[in-house]
Amino acid sequence: MPLSRSRRHWKFIEVEKAEILNWLRERDESRLKELWLKELWLKADGVREENVGRAVHLRGLIEISNHCVRRCTYCGLNAGNTNLQRYRMTEDEIMECAYRAVRFGYGTVVMQAGEDYGIKTDWLADIIRRIKDSTPLAVTLGMGERPAADLRAWRQAGADRYLLRFETSDNELYHKIHPPRAGQSYNRLDLLSVLGELGYEVGSGVLIGVPGQSFESLADDIDLFRRFDLDMIGVGPYISHPDTPLSKTNPTPQPSDSELADMVPNDELTAYKVIALTRLLCPQSNIPATTALATINRSEGAALGLTRGANVIMPNLTPPAYRELYEIYPEKGHTDTTSVQSRKHLIDMLESIGRTTGKGPGPRIR
Ligand code: 5AD
Repeated sequence: MPLSRSRRHWKFIEVEKAEILNWLRERDESRLKELWLKELWLKADGVREENVGRAVHLRGLIEISNHCVRRCTYCGLNAGNTNLQRYRMTEDEIMECAYRAVRFGYGTVVMQAGEDYGIKTDWLADIIRRIKDSTPLAVTLGMGERPAADLRAWRQAGADRYLLRFETSDNELYHKIHPPRAGQSYNRLDLLSVLGELGYEVGSGVLIGVPGQSFESLADDIDLFRRFDLDMIGVGPYISHPDTPLSKTNPTPQPSDSELADMVPNDELTAYKVIALTRLLCPQSNIPATTALATINRSEGAALGLTRGANVIMPNLTPPAYRELYEIYPEKGHTDTTSVQSRKHLIDMLESIGRTTGKGPGPRIR
């Protein structure tokens, strides 16, 4: 994943960055409605169709543990949250979910967890090997900032992809919302390079509208997606969770009017704009309509995301009792995506927007 630093490239980025900023900042409803947005949605949908086609890839999500050693100020799994009952799935429970993914016709499972060192390197490597030996599934991991040796072991065991959002490219904001852990000094961007060198397909992404985020930095985020040539890009609105430090801090002193004008809202419209712009800049990437988006608009979030640049859905396979406890933000666990009825609902939705269900693992297309 080369970061090109040639002058020409920078100039090119600058020009486009101004354009990205214009799109992000525009709030004039009538202007947006009449012209701009239609054009943006159409452009993004066209670029999606041309580059990654009509198929929507389904990735079965397995939330294998909600233990976490980190204290990210926005996340309900943060180690300081004592109101949360913690769980770690057993190997058999995880395998059961993987087999269910196969029965449902999914091509990929995504195993996700808090940064949990109770997930031992070899234990997870064995599970990855079991899944790869006994199913045709691609395996994606999201285990946080684990040491390079762990990432290597899991890659060698057969894991195909790894997700690690850099959350924001604004260094100051990043450090504010990610208190460092004693003895741990990984830089997420460096880890993304390590993942690429290990041969993973690499996924990253950001929060949209986390307090303190400026439009300028969000434009930089999208620019960084392109410069890192990411294979997968997940973005979603920040949703406040009551049991987090961030929800308890009052913005003192009150932001000035000009600061307010530059603060990114965590609303639906901004989320679609970011998805669409991301598609324009990263035409071949796999981009999900995320759960956070479906949470703030239950009936239409997924469909709208898919018609504005996204090409992936991640139905949740976690057993319901655990799913409720994987509460990175409120109301997340309340959708049922595993019943026959809800699967039919998903297929019907895809059909209604003229899309097909992806077959096979659905890797990054180049
Ligand atoms: N609102 C929205 N997204 C969140 N995440 C964590 N906490 C929240 C929240 N309160 C996202 C982060 C993380 C991903 C797994 O979930 O971006 O990388």
